[in-house]
Amino acid sequence: MKSAEIRQAFLDYFARQGHAVVASSSLVPENDPTLLFTNAGMNQFKDVFLGRDKRDYSRATSSQRCVRAGGKHNDLENVGYTARHHTFFEMLGNFSFGDYFKRDAIRFAWEFLTGELGLPPEKLWVTVHVSDDEAADIWLKEMGVSAERFSRLDEDNFWQMGDTGPCGPSSEIFYDHGADVPGGPPGSEDGDLDRYIEIWNLVFMQYDRQDDGELKPLPKPSVDTGMGLERIAAVQQGVHSNYEIDLFQALLKAAAQATGCDDLENKSLRVIADHIRSASFLITDGVVPSNEGRGYVLRRIIRRALRHGHQLGQEKPFFHTLVAALVEQMGDAYPELRREQARVEKALLAEEEQFGRTLAAGMKVLEGAMAELQGDELPGRVVFSLYDTHGFPPDLTADVARERGLSVDMDGFDQEMQAQRERARGAGAFANDYSDRLNIEAVTDFSGYEKHQDQAEVEGLYRDGAAVDSLEAGETGMVLLKRTPFYAESGGQVGDRGVLAGGDARFNVEDTRKRGQAHIHVGTVSTGTLKVGDKVDAYVDVERRRAIMRHHSATHLLHAALRRVLGDHVQQKGSLVAPDYLRFDFAHGEALSAEQREEIETLVNRQILENAAVTTEL
Ligand code: SER
Repeated sequence: MKSAEIRQAFLDYFARQGHAVVASSSLVPENDPTLLFTNAGMNQFKDVFLGRDKRDYSRATSSQRCVRAGGKHNDLENVGYTARHHTFFEMLGNFSFGDYFKRDAIRFAWEFLTGELGLPPEKLWVTVHVSDDEAADIWLKEMGVSAERFSRLDEDNFWQMGDTGPCGPSSEIFYDHGADVPGGPPGSEDGDLDRYIEIWNLVFMQYDRQDDGELKPLPKPSVDTGMGLERIAAVQQGVHSNYEIDLFQALLKAAAQATGCDDLENKSLRVIADHIRSASFLITDGVVPSNEGRGYVLRRIIRRALRHGHQLGQEKPFFHTLVAALVEQMGDAYPELRREQARVEKALLAEEEQFGRTLAAGMKVLEGAMAELQGDELPGRVVFSLYDTHGFPPDLTADVARERGLSVDMDGFDQEMQAQRERARGAGAFANDYSDRLNIEAVTDFSGYEKHQDQAEVEGLYRDGAAVDSLEAGETGMVLLKRTPFYAESGGQVGDRGVLAGGDARFNVEDTRKRGQAHIHVGTVSTGTLKVGDKVDAYVDVERRRAIMRHHSATHLLHAALRRVLGDHVQQKGSLVAPDYLRFDFAHGEALSAEQREEIETLVNRQILENAAVTTEL
């Protein structure tokens, strides 16, 4: 059976058992800050397991695209070194939300493997959690699994998505690739080798792990299963490595052609074939190569692939040409990939051109450093300089080093990074700005959503970074009020200006900043003396604030228009909202064309001319 046929047979089987067939969700998890990338089929159902979300089905099945690179489940370092680890893979799964539990989950899995796929039971091995007598009885007494191919394990049979969230004991099914492959049964000393391969994990979801580690029972016991498509395809196609299955063979051939390497078992070729999948799907799902967060993981994956291409002697951009072969293999199952093909190719090419300029030079530096090295650890200084000057992510350097039997000094690298951060901070600080030295505990009550003018008491005064009792005419300093209508700079919106007036004293507010939860008015006393305890009238410069608010609204309009014209991958990375202009930062693989700019402008202007009412709700 081809991979595509297995995927379809799985979904069809579970549809016949009353499961709703649900499409794969994006690799970028929606509303889940605990997760870097979608790493399991159950992610999109997390809230359903927790009882926070309801669906109109209680059984579901899916083929979910997953990335395990960075975060709790990270396989990046293993790619190319084993027969079964990938940065990207597809997880086939069936799920019960308070519907069936252990008995049916086990029965379905056994029936699918031995019935639909026709696997001989004597090639399968089953494990359950040490404490799980119920699952053990179902397997041994009801399914008739042989006690000789059955074991109970501890941590290996408990699954959790992250440090918190749904979890529970599991039961795993392994395939025995035969005595000619090295490795022992699950749980044994060499159980991690390639002979017994875990193909299916049935998780009996029972708990929600809390921040403090406590296991809180779920509202209803549920089921979450996951089977790696690539692994079951290897079994079905009678091969021992995932890279030998139909889907990977096609990608390896394309990679061989693009790099001029004709050995399909070459490790670098395998890394490239693996990485084109994760890179393409991540870009499809809106991730853009960058220097932080998800974008940096993507950049690391791409640069790693390029380095392996370079190793095979390919000096020119080649990686983006593999997208076509990937679309051919997976575009039917994931139509979004086909839709985004052109954008994915462009983004990869741009990254190839950029990194291509420094890759060769960086490799020379690295080769030189390795040749001169005494001992077997590459110093942090070298790793840092490759990172800083040539754009080599440290894991790329480590990957090269590992091939030569060397390790890298990551602590040393971290120290160099820290030193650089401090240098940058020193260069950026203003000599006469003491506000960042102040540690203010007070919480200011902000009234500026309702009014632009308010009365308040002076709670604190500061000069040269220290608390004082009063500020005289001509003195520059900072004023802390118990309550204020002055908006303090945050989220890119600049702070308010205006006047504080009390008795004969006037304080011109030139900026408002936040220290902790306090709003600090920065400025100069123009007349009189301002003292702690004084009652003042606080007047925001209303014209200026209104201009800022207009630009704030405009950033939202611009954001929406950008997404409409360029795609949903556009996300706000930063912004500056001032009275006379706004700046909106976003990442996109290439410069905008004149037509695109015009279209965006028209969309924004049209909304402005609609003159819709704006309201504030907290
Ligand atoms: N969530 C489990 C896993 O990822 C089963 O789907 O292995």
